[in-house]
Amino acid sequence: MSAAPPLAELRGLSKHFGEGATRVDALVDISMAVHPGEVIGLLGPSGSGKSTLLYAVGCVAEPNAGWISLDGEVIYDNRWMRRDLRRLRLTKIGFVFQQHNLLGFLNSTENVAEVMELAGIRAPEARARAEALLERLSVGHRRHAMPGELSGGEAQRVAIARALANDPRLILADEPTAALDSERAGRVMDLLRAAAHERGAAAIVVTHDDKIFDRFDRILHLRDGRLVREEARVPIPAGHASVPANQGRTPP
Ligand SMILES: Nc1ncnc2c1ncn2[C@@H]1O[C@H](COP(=O)(O)OP(=O)(O)O)[C@@H](O)[C@H]1O
Ligand SMILES: [Mg+2]
Repeated sequence: MSAAPPLAELRGLSKHFGEGATRVDALVDISMAVHPGEVIGLLGPSGSGKSTLLYAVGCVAEPNAGWISLDGEVIYDNRWMRRDLRRLRLTKIGFVFQQHNLLGFLNSTENVAEVMELAGIRAPEARARAEALLERLSVGHRRHAMPGELSGGEAQRVAIARALANDPRLILADEPTAALDSERAGRVMDLLRAAAHERGAAAIVVTHDDKIFDRFDRILHLRDGRLVREEARVPIPAGHASVPANQGRTPP
């Protein structure tokens, strides 16, 4: 895995909010590489910079200093290197925000199909693909429901379908399983892992959810804006979503 060039790489990335006495250093000199096929867990206490890190890698919020490459292209070098960040986000990045951010006036299928149409896919195909994705996330039966009619867990899965809609290279998910029971959480993680393994994509998943720790290749720990620790994992294979942690493994 490490022989392949990184899918995303960060060097010396920093971001602060405010100045002087009110200054908050949200990210301090972060360097890391994400390789194709990897599903990385990002852990840390509230306020440690997890969301800020995803927003920076996802070209949503501008860092203050450092360097980011994505899919072989330098996208940030003390400033954004591209004008069309929107296009980059649309085609290469799949974002699952902490709040699901579905459009309230579109139903589930339309919420997912919309981002495909923005990327140039024709409406009938976008619709068909959206419905197939919703089916894979076990919310196909809610395809005509409006966001206000969905449970928290259903809305979360529709948001995940939308993030996967354009086959992104990099999936960035902020607590995507928080509203899901362990079986559904496992299924969502299996889907992310399948995307990573089948298409050479990668995912960074912010989580506190110990039900899914077994699904990560690596876990990174953030504290006060710094990467303080990294754990290698041996993930259990896909398809064991309902097996509780550790019971799917052969004893040593
Ligand atoms: N838009 C903002 N304006 C000011 N401070 C912010 C903003 N966003 C985040 N912060 C601060 O940056 C730090 C990291 O925040 P965040 O990345 O949201 O942490 P986490 O996601 O780990 O809870 C926190 O101290 C937070 O208060
Ligand atoms: Mg956060």
